[in-house]
Amino acid sequence: GEHKLALTPPMGWNSWNVWAGAVDEDKVKAAADEMISTGLAAHGYSYINIDDTWEAGRDDKGNILTNKKFPDMARLSGYIHKKGLRFGIYSSPGPQTCAGYTASYEHEDQDAASYAAWGVDYLKYDWCSYGRIAKDDHSLPALMKPYQVMGASLNKVNRDIVYSLCQYGMGEVWKWGADPSIGGNAWRTTGDIVDNWHSLRGIIESQAGHEVYAGPGHWNDPDMLMVGIVGFGKTHPTHLKPNEQILHISMWSLLAAPILIGCDMTKMDQFTLDLLANDETIDINQDPLGKAASRVVKDGNREVWARPLFDGTKAVGLVNMDNEPQKITVKWADLGLKAPQAVRDLWLHKNLGTINGSYTVEVPAHGCVLLKVKGVGRK
Ligand code: GLA
Repeated sequence: GEHKLALTPPMGWNSWNVWAGAVDEDKVKAAADEMISTGLAAHGYSYINIDDTWEAGRDDKGNILTNKKFPDMARLSGYIHKKGLRFGIYSSPGPQTCAGYTASYEHEDQDAASYAAWGVDYLKYDWCSYGRIAKDDHSLPALMKPYQVMGASLNKVNRDIVYSLCQYGMGEVWKWGADPSIGGNAWRTTGDIVDNWHSLRGIIESQAGHEVYAGPGHWNDPDMLMVGIVGFGKTHPTHLKPNEQILHISMWSLLAAPILIGCDMTKMDQFTLDLLANDETIDINQDPLGKAASRVVKDGNREVWARPLFDGTKAVGLVNMDNEPQKITVKWADLGLKAPQAVRDLWLHKNLGTINGSYTVEVPAHGCVLLKVKGVGRK
């Protein structure tokens, strides 16, 4: 489309990682309530997104119906909007969603019109069951088609709806999700995240090189957050260790990824809240230049990721994928810089002084030290 939505990565909450099919209206309202009462809305989080399992069949005119967990979508949307938040929903281009509920195939215009009537601000559009329609044709036109169809339907309604594509594993959606014939604002670059180190590490490693496809209005989406109480309906504290969670948030900031909280917002401990409410990491994520980080060093399990920022500084992540603490060095030359740099640690909230040549720090196992570096000219 021609719209200018999501000029910085969307921030909010999505129901899937904590509730999966156990989501209902009360749980979504509670997430909206907590977004305000915890102060997270004031840090920039605004979307409250229902994922799969809200759908019922269709009425005799073909309009999508909601099941008994969601008796009145317009009422729920009104509740969310009254708090100054925005409302998101989910569907798939095939006849059925990934969880086997009614999806949008051959009803795209009608569904887009229903979303607009309900006040929907964000659509996550999956792929499940469309394989049957495409007859397993994985050619580029076949992969793009269902997203073009729904994109056109969204363009017909009188409402700005962020369009998030959830296709992965078939083609390279990051290369075409922003095509004007689709107008995608974000696209999943990975399979579903789970709350363990293997999943987190795999996702991070797979993002190297994708940075060239992200920019204002069109973002790579390495999936939703796995901090706090999660578990797809069988809730438990995330199995990611504290340092892994710091790495998770640091990388989503460096990658300019959508930050959709995936936990039970009513049960966040102080650590979870501190992870999500750090304005210094949020500022990196939301930097208006919109340039995602590239991996500038890979030395075994030691990595350096860096992104340029709007104000001429750079954000730098020193990433330790190893099972033991490691000393990691970033050389200014690796960042294309020569001058001494004023270095700030964005988790310690501390200026480390002006440093020549390089900076070395011990990074905990599976952890990340996130820095901002600013050239100060030669002395
Ligand atoms: C897919 C998506 C998930 C979630 C489920 C819902 O697996 O990748 O994020 O939306 O479908 O069924």
